[in-house]
Amino acid sequence: MAPPSHLAYVPFISVENMMRLVHSIGIETVLRELADAIEHDFTRWPLFDKTPRIGSHSDLGVIELMPTSDGELYGFKYVNGHPTNTKQGLQTVTAFGLLAQVSSGYPVLLSEMTVLTALRTAATSAMTARHLAPRDAKVMALIGNGAQSEFQALAFKAVVGIEEVRLYDIDSAATRKCAANLAQSGLRVTPCGSSQEAMEGAQIVTTCTADKQYATILTDNMIGDGIHINAIGGDCPGKTELHRDILLRSDIFVEYPPQTRIEGEIQQLPEDYPVTELWKVITGEVEGRRSASQITLFDGVGFAIEDFSALKYVYTRALETGHYQHLDMIADPDDPRDLFGMLTRAGVEAP
Ligand SMILES: NC(=O)c1ccc[n+]([C@@H]2O[C@H](COP(=O)([O-])OP(=O)(O)OC[C@H]3O[C@@H](n4cnc5c(N)ncnc54)[C@H](O)[C@@H]3O)[C@@H](O)[C@H]2O)c1
Repeated sequence: MAPPSHLAYVPFISVENMMRLVHSIGIETVLRELADAIEHDFTRWPLFDKTPRIGSHSDLGVIELMPTSDGELYGFKYVNGHPTNTKQGLQTVTAFGLLAQVSSGYPVLLSEMTVLTALRTAATSAMTARHLAPRDAKVMALIGNGAQSEFQALAFKAVVGIEEVRLYDIDSAATRKCAANLAQSGLRVTPCGSSQEAMEGAQIVTTCTADKQYATILTDNMIGDGIHINAIGGDCPGKTELHRDILLRSDIFVEYPPQTRIEGEIQQLPEDYPVTELWKVITGEVEGRRSASQITLFDGVGFAIEDFSALKYVYTRALETGHYQHLDMIADPDDPRDLFGMLTRAGVEAP
């Protein structure tokens, strides 16, 4: 059988190559570069195709498709969210994604995105905090110490300048794991016995818990003036982390309102409750933090443009570093209208 032509091959970043890529660049550099790449795409926001992600819900979780395009490239991510998975030794979130040329429709990259989603979520959170958190923030409470947690801690160190993380999880084994993973990070790591204790002295709180219900990870009395809340665990209908009273005291910033109103903390509020679109803060059209006493809330659910930016970033970096392989993914007949002939000739030639 003749070997496939170069048109058949699509660069593929496997999990192994993603890990090599991150190690060769350095995780904090990756997080900083990703934060800048996502911020840049937020300044181009009006250019992108936008739609709330397409979710397929079950009692145990959700499977979602997240498409977007900037007119030159098209991208999508497949991602799941299954909070009870960890009880069976499976992850809550797994993902992969693709970039394609709009001009031809041909894919240019297929990539693992489980690791990349954790990186891009942390980079988005930290980039957002750069605009909304108090300027002198040095201490962050981190509630929920699962798969996303170390990425969040490192992104806030690299992008925002956080020096201490105060950890809490209902499962103390998760906190021990997170503390051990961050032991050499240069962060001061303080395991705590409750959310309340984790909040002591913190100027930023990140909630990244997983529970498929209206949970109350933080109550109103825990939130002092001037705090920035980075709430990323409430990202599905019927799955939130904050008491409604906190929302009523906060200025709320979101990625794409039509998606966040379905999935975010603000599903607890009326549909016309005022929120600010983050991209407008980034372009300077709207003010972010206006005062030292203001409570800012990033109601982050994760939007397709962040995955698009992340895929574009790793595409460039993979081609530069060689950390990818070629997948024989696109059928490429000699005559583009003779797909059938290609198939039948392969049958004749096969041993
Ligand atoms: N917004 C986004 O872009 C985005 C991206 C990725 C993941 N997520 C969400 O972030 C959350 C965390 O994801 P993960 O991969 O780290 O999940 P995970 O299952 O690995 O970790 C979640 C942790 O939360 C803890 N937890 C659950 N209820 C708690 C409570 N009441 N108080 C304190 N801790 C509690 C669990 O014990 C667990 O250790 C999930 O809900 C996921 O859907 C959001």
